[in-house]
Amino acid sequence: MSDFEIVSRADFSDATYLLEVRHPQMARAARPGQFVIVMEHEHGERIPLTIADFDREKGTITLVIQAVGKTTKEMQRNCRVGTKLHAMVGPMGIPSHIGQAKKVVCVGGGLGVAPIYPQARAYKESGAYVIGVLGFRNRSLMFWEDKFRACCDELIVCTDDGSAGIKGLVTEGIRQSVDKHADIDEVIAIGPPVMMRGCADATRARGIKTMVSLNPVMVDGTGMCGGCRVKIGETIKFACVDGPDFDGHQVDFDDLVARLVRYRRAEGEAMQRFDENCRMRDMATPVAQAPEAAETTPESEPLADRPSTDA
Ligand SMILES: Cc1cc2nc3c(=O)[nH]c(=O)nc-3n(C[C@H](O)[C@H](O)[C@H](O)COP(=O)(O)OP(=O)(O)OC[C@H]3O[C@@H](n4cnc5c(N)ncnc54)[C@H](O)[C@@H]3O)c2cc1C
Ligand code: FES
Repeated sequence: MSDFEIVSRADFSDATYLLEVRHPQMARAARPGQFVIVMEHEHGERIPLTIADFDREKGTITLVIQAVGKTTKEMQRNCRVGTKLHAMVGPMGIPSHIGQAKKVVCVGGGLGVAPIYPQARAYKESGAYVIGVLGFRNRSLMFWEDKFRACCDELIVCTDDGSAGIKGLVTEGIRQSVDKHADIDEVIAIGPPVMMRGCADATRARGIKTMVSLNPVMVDGTGMCGGCRVKIGETIKFACVDGPDFDGHQVDFDDLVARLVRYRRAEGEAMQRFDENCRMRDMATPVAQAPEAAETTPESEPLADRPSTDA
């Protein structure tokens, strides 16, 4: 099965965009904490993306994506309402365990605000008292405040510069929550590794169970390649099949960060090639509109139609 139509798109900032994709089967099967592996086009790279929302009635799933490199920037450029994703595999990973917790703190930092949403909603539906803690660099990067207000009993927004909510990191929001509520059963945190490490450190002394969602580099997503190996306490796990949720107090964050930067050079080279192709494509556009000039530029073939060599 292939070709999944994009039915809506929203741009939260220059770098962050939302795609709502029609896939009734996936929407029926999706559970909080799971992810999909997406190929935007036939020759594209396979990238893992968290299912940030699903609507079983509409038959859609929602992805929130940050344009950080070649593929996510290519998708930012190409994915419009009415276009289609070439392939989407999932739902993958073990769904988050929504247990019997009566009071939880759901923490999302930056892009992590999107994937924490289905968990906050699921906890609310299970009858728990939900405290949301959302962190952004500044007010202009905020999104989904209304969705969180609808499913949280309390919401603490934190910004680095104090332009919205409290000035400070999400760890300040956690501190305020645990000071106010002595009976918090669980903290769930999703965001950059350094943020998740900070959240785990903030709860360790009080012994509050703290789950984090890990994002190592994934290739096949089936436990075969070993790319997503993570160290959890004394054991080695594969985030794609054993996670992506793990006990934050057990995660070796140094190892995770070291593995995440391992391919930086190749990623930089792919990005440079993509930028150069975009520049040449932009230069080729006016040529295509001027036939007399096109005759003197034999290489005006649209670069976007050439197969990518980065798959
Ligand atoms: C379970 C999981 C869920 C994720 N959910 C989201 C999400 O909802 N939204 C979102 O924007 N991003 C998400 N990511 C990260 C996303 O997959 C990467 O940003 C993307 O693959 C980068 O590809 P690129 O070509 O644009 O950038 P690159 O320049 O190739 O990479 C930029 C950085 O992204 C990471 N990355 C690169 N390739 C992969 C890969 N195959 N798997 C994982 N990480 C990679 C590395 O840290 C790398 O340094 C998730 C990752 C995982 C593992
Ligand atoms: S992505 Fe290959 S083992 Fe997890």
